[in-house]
Amino acid sequence: MDLKEGWLDRRIFSDAEIYEEELYRIFARSWLFVAHESQLPKAGDFLTTHMGEDAVIVTRQPDGSIKVYLNSCPHRGNKVCFADAGNTRRFVCNYHGWAFNTAGELQGMHEEYCYDEGDIDRKKNGLRQVARVGSYKGLVFATFAEDGPSLDAWLGDFRWYLDMLLDNEEGGTELIGGCIKSVISANWKFGVENFIGDAYHAGWTHDSGCRSMNNGQPFPPIDMDNSYHASVNGHGWEFGTEGVGDLFLLGRPKVMEYYEKIRPKMADRLGTMRSQIFGSVASASIFPNVSFLPGISTFRQWQPKGPMQFELKTWVIVNKAMPDDIKDEVTKGVMQTFGPGGTFEMDDGENWENCTTVNRGVVTRHEKLHYRCGIGRQIDHDTLPGIVYRGQYNDANQRGFYQRWLDMMEATDLGAMPPRPEPRLTGVAETRDLPGLFAL
Ligand code: FES
Ligand code: FE
Repeated sequence: MDLKEGWLDRRIFSDAEIYEEELYRIFARSWLFVAHESQLPKAGDFLTTHMGEDAVIVTRQPDGSIKVYLNSCPHRGNKVCFADAGNTRRFVCNYHGWAFNTAGELQGMHEEYCYDEGDIDRKKNGLRQVARVGSYKGLVFATFAEDGPSLDAWLGDFRWYLDMLLDNEEGGTELIGGCIKSVISANWKFGVENFIGDAYHAGWTHDSGCRSMNNGQPFPPIDMDNSYHASVNGHGWEFGTEGVGDLFLLGRPKVMEYYEKIRPKMADRLGTMRSQIFGSVASASIFPNVSFLPGISTFRQWQPKGPMQFELKTWVIVNKAMPDDIKDEVTKGVMQTFGPGGTFEMDDGENWENCTTVNRGVVTRHEKLHYRCGIGRQIDHDTLPGIVYRGQYNDANQRGFYQRWLDMMEATDLGAMPPRPEPRLTGVAETRDLPGLFAL
């Protein structure tokens, strides 16, 4: 790996040991998206999800706070909740009937008389709490790491960009219509890196889809002088500043009219530049595994399920203040474009599956991948925070994402987590030669 030069090692997309290290070093150390506040409006509301491959339950407490704990019974490890979401007073394990309240505390056991005094301390046998939970403008994150940066520090200046999605209108956002899950036989990072800044593929991969949505018109040309990649802490947003909308991709004029109507207020709230960025062709990812399209309103998480498979969870994100008919229009637009049968979604999955499989070839895996596009176009910008590159056709945000990934994979200070062997990526760049192989 040499990201300063723009080269990437293909083995990170299929190697089982690297994947295990990722679960430990990236997913067990990062702040991970677990819910939107709107999914848990009342006390007792819960949803189940994963942090890496660890199953967790997210619950709203009577005092309004949110707790996250492992969805695994301390008795034999069974899941204590199999539902995706709901409202409850307790979780009861299927296997031997241990019962937990919504704070995760052990409340009682089936045939409790079988335990003698001293056999079990209820206080010590609740569901294992996730170390820290935090939220930013409706998005709830959790981390297994007891130490390390706060959520605010983790997001850092990326909050300047995130506010365009989460705070462009009074009342904030909500997720509507439930979650769609699909399984794709590809490495999770291909989804993230595509959404963090791969505008480059859009006009080619999605050409026919774009024409079908837009009266035969192709994807609009990119204004390389007025578009950017911005990377902060491994998060990234790629966008234009001239307000040429990706909203047209929805094919939903009522939605475009709505955004035009609120744009002056958006400018009062966020400033003119951000009100224009919000309407531009744009996509973004939050490190490590959340992505969204700001105008199109798909919001998604790439959940790792092995080195060569991920589960894609997608939601529709809207402003709470939108009238219901506009929310319906947005939902239809998202389904038409980025639902599992959407015009664009189908194109991407096939490419990522092929990239994953082909990169695994026993010879192929030792060839470098090219991430050098726009490598000399870094600029200082008066207004835009983060590491900024000019030109939306660029690999800059991908380089930023993989640099953060590499920093965490190679970190020697793992804080409160148990020690692990040194990562095996160090020096990977030198191993690409296979002496003698082609002489056979
Ligand atoms: Fe849960 Fe035994 S595994 S009660
Ligand atoms: Fe795409």
